[in-house]
Amino acid sequence: MKAYDFVVIGSGIAGLSFALKAARHGSVAVVTKRKGADSNTAWAQGGIACVTSDEDSFELHVRDTLDAGAGLCDERVVRTIVTEAPARIHDLVELGLHFDEREVSGHREFDLGREGGHSKRRVLHVADVTGKEIENVLLRELSRQSHVDLLENHMAVDLITAAKLGFAAEDRCLGVYVLDEQTGEVETIRSDRIVLATGGCGKVYLYTTNPDIATGDGVAMAWRAGATIANMEFVQFHPTCLFHPKAKSFLISEAVRGEGGILRNNRGEDFMKRYDPRGSLAPRDIVARAIDAEIKRSGAQCVFLDITDKPVEFLRERFPNIYETCLRFGIDMTKQPIPVVPAAHYQCGGVKTDVNGATSLSGLYAIGEVGCTGLHGANRLASNSLLEGLVVAHRAVAAAIESRSLRDQRAIPLPEWESGNVQDVDELVVIYHNWDEIRRLMWDYVGIVRTDKRLQRASARLRNLQREIREFYWNFKVSVDLLELRNLATVAALIVDSALSRKESRGLHYTLDYPERDERDYVRSTLLSRV
Ligand code: SIN
Repeated sequence: MKAYDFVVIGSGIAGLSFALKAARHGSVAVVTKRKGADSNTAWAQGGIACVTSDEDSFELHVRDTLDAGAGLCDERVVRTIVTEAPARIHDLVELGLHFDEREVSGHREFDLGREGGHSKRRVLHVADVTGKEIENVLLRELSRQSHVDLLENHMAVDLITAAKLGFAAEDRCLGVYVLDEQTGEVETIRSDRIVLATGGCGKVYLYTTNPDIATGDGVAMAWRAGATIANMEFVQFHPTCLFHPKAKSFLISEAVRGEGGILRNNRGEDFMKRYDPRGSLAPRDIVARAIDAEIKRSGAQCVFLDITDKPVEFLRERFPNIYETCLRFGIDMTKQPIPVVPAAHYQCGGVKTDVNGATSLSGLYAIGEVGCTGLHGANRLASNSLLEGLVVAHRAVAAAIESRSLRDQRAIPLPEWESGNVQDVDELVVIYHNWDEIRRLMWDYVGIVRTDKRLQRASARLRNLQREIREFYWNFKVSVDLLELRNLATVAALIVDSALSRKESRGLHYTLDYPERDERDYVRSTLLSRV
């Protein structure tokens, strides 16, 4: 049995930042189910929001975050994260990250992008490949650490807790079962400080901007272990995902609208002005709903993002990745509007934590998209998420070190994994069918605009699917496909249950049955827990 001082599950900005800092204090395993760089972070285009300009202030960043969050942000958390941002950006720069700069009156300063809901330019970026650059820098640094084992192609199956082993007096995390995808064996790893950094759950929807790894693994594991889950009804749909039959999950960054891109309907009309005075740069929930309404009204398949009035050179330099990718699909963004549709993008809820990433289960931390600190409330402000990952990872290291090291708990023997009936899954078709069914029913019944009836239909169907999946799980040898399916079904059910319990419309949760905000009964987080 392996043992580490810290086990980090996930290898995006939050997980790698934690691992690098924790390695100064003990041994670390980073468990990641594909390659190190396969993370949501690597796909992030926009950048990191941080106050760096004289024209901006912490107060404005706080206000914009609270406005977007529609009354559900935790203001103390917002203030902490916003004010600690410059120090964490400095850490990245020290590791060798070069954010784009520009020349202003003889000196260099950060080239700041603008995105929806921000009252100032404050998004630090590396062209339109910010996340990829961050991931490269962090992985390079990780490879220099002797205290860190990067376990690629390893997928966490379940957390091992004292309560599950019958020690119910004070529940806490003791370790984790991990599937080695090459050998097919499930290993037991002991650690009393486990950090979930698994990202979000975009794959629960048919259309998403997320990579294939985003199957809600962290939330599902935490739920099974008895941790509290918060605000899962708030799924952010990004308004502009490339619409093309052959393009899978390609995001057209909000920064394109920040640089003047205008959304037009199939008649060429700048329709956003009818929905919000901020037009195409209104917060995402408003823009995504407006696009949904335009598409439903006109029967068109998509709307268009038009930035053709900008100079060709500017577009190619500022958006090299978007320009090249669109061109590969036969769309020249310098000459023609880009066809776009909304797609699931970000999980604003997650495993409930404090601002240090500590969950309700002792020894378990959740950082980055998998956690719900209270920063995003009912709707995340663009480019606040990489920032949250950085700040909370830093704070979680300090909290995990301070937390009581439970040497005595190490006396508790951890059972090895038991495979019930070790047959291989010969019914792969059932897994794929269920996988597709979940994603389609979530898209059709639990999307941008909801109703109780659709949510109830989704709930009933999901219960059946969960029963079938449970049977599979106990009867067959576990595989990545099966584990991901089990997690997707769990997270889908959590989203539906949370949505059903919020009888109002707020931020990203919009229901035709209760179209107004209810300031009396619902200015609170939705909390779910198995125990
Ligand atoms: C984008 O570039 O539009 C995505 C940024 C974000 O989701 O924060």
